[in-house]
Amino acid sequence: MKIAHFSRWGFLMAAAGSAVGLGNIWKFPYIAGEYGGGAFVLVYIMTVAFVGFTVMIAEMLIGYLGRLDNVGSFESLAPRNKEKWKFAGFMGLSGTLVMFYYSVVIGWIFYYIGLSFDTLPATIPEAELIYNTMLTHGLWTQVFYHTIAFMITTAVLMRGIKGGIEKFSLILMPGLILIIAGMLIYAMNLDSFSRAVEYMFVPDWSKLTSEAFAVAVGHAFFTLSLGMGAIMIYSASLPKESNIVRAALFVISMDTLIALSAGLVLFTFLFQYGAQPAKGPGLVFISLPAVFHAMGAAGNVLSVLFFVALAFAGLTSAVSLVEPMVQYLIDRWKMTRAKAAISMGLFFYFFGLMAIFSELESTSQLLTWGGRNFFDWSDYITSNILLPVGGLLMAIFVGHVMEKERVASVLRTHMGWFYPVWYFNVRYVAPVALVFVMLNLMGVIVF
Ligand code: PFF
Repeated sequence: MKIAHFSRWGFLMAAAGSAVGLGNIWKFPYIAGEYGGGAFVLVYIMTVAFVGFTVMIAEMLIGYLGRLDNVGSFESLAPRNKEKWKFAGFMGLSGTLVMFYYSVVIGWIFYYIGLSFDTLPATIPEAELIYNTMLTHGLWTQVFYHTIAFMITTAVLMRGIKGGIEKFSLILMPGLILIIAGMLIYAMNLDSFSRAVEYMFVPDWSKLTSEAFAVAVGHAFFTLSLGMGAIMIYSASLPKESNIVRAALFVISMDTLIALSAGLVLFTFLFQYGAQPAKGPGLVFISLPAVFHAMGAAGNVLSVLFFVALAFAGLTSAVSLVEPMVQYLIDRWKMTRAKAAISMGLFFYFFGLMAIFSELESTSQLLTWGGRNFFDWSDYITSNILLPVGGLLMAIFVGHVMEKERVASVLRTHMGWFYPVWYFNVRYVAPVALVFVMLNLMGVIVF
């Protein structure tokens, strides 16, 4: 049973905090760069608007009406076959698996905050050396910072929804928004800003392969925290009589604005200092620090602020990834919150260590299977399989299983004429889009 409720702002900040994460600032710019900029961004925005919005409302609705842990919410809302639908609820617990690598990346960010106070790498090769050394030889560095990420996340979770997650988000989110807005204003005053706008918004359709398309759709789900039960468990603590349609619009707008702003800031800085938009995860950890170095003393300040913003974004998402399991253990296994939070913390901490070992030169062979190491597998399985399957089940559950009247009773007043459009989307458009993404990401269909 859920006792403590979010306040209105508390919920909005916590849900936006879940959505705005490493996905927005670390992943989005590099995949946008990799898949050709404008056309990719357009597909991404369309997916967010049409499919993301639809599924977010479905996920919120299950939590809001169910008001239990995620498994319990599915079970209590299924009109029949409760036992079967209970299993769909287990998909809503999978976020903790994302933490196997997410916590490690938050650790890297902490390391880079420290680095920003000191000497930044002067050239790209130097920056590559620092990043690669951390990754392939920096066992203790990574373990140290991963431990800090684990401790913060667990401490917040131990304090619960009201005293932990809500308070944490109410401080970190405004901080993050201020930093990103400040950096955007700074970037707007640089010559290369217009080039960054062009790069991100002028579509080059020839670059839009089916893979780029599927990656854009997949990322739209990841960045909105859909399909893994994070938004669902937060919605179970919404005060009664909340307007979930308005809440979903708020979260989606914030998430999109921050991703686009982060992209514009990053590309402006890169173009201004003659760096290429590097491919892959190194964009933020390699190209950017070298660019900050070129800016002189201001660069150090900007670098600290940038990595602090990134850490804030990561931490507020981290707590939302683990909370579904914590609440499940409390409800079903009758654990105290402290015990549940610590158990889940230790669980992702341990597998996070495996992710670290899987990147180290000396141990990577042991932890690599089928061309992917443990770190990459955690990302691959969660983003490409668990997340779309989770989203699909939620859409089907709300669109085809829950009683029609029950769904309409909450949403019709808030949606008005749009309600039938939304209902059609949740029944047909979202499931088709999700199946398409899964098949494509698994390499089954390519066009
Ligand atoms: N939305 C987060 C990001 O963009 O980094 C990641 C995430 C959080 C995914 C919570 C899924 C989730 F349930």
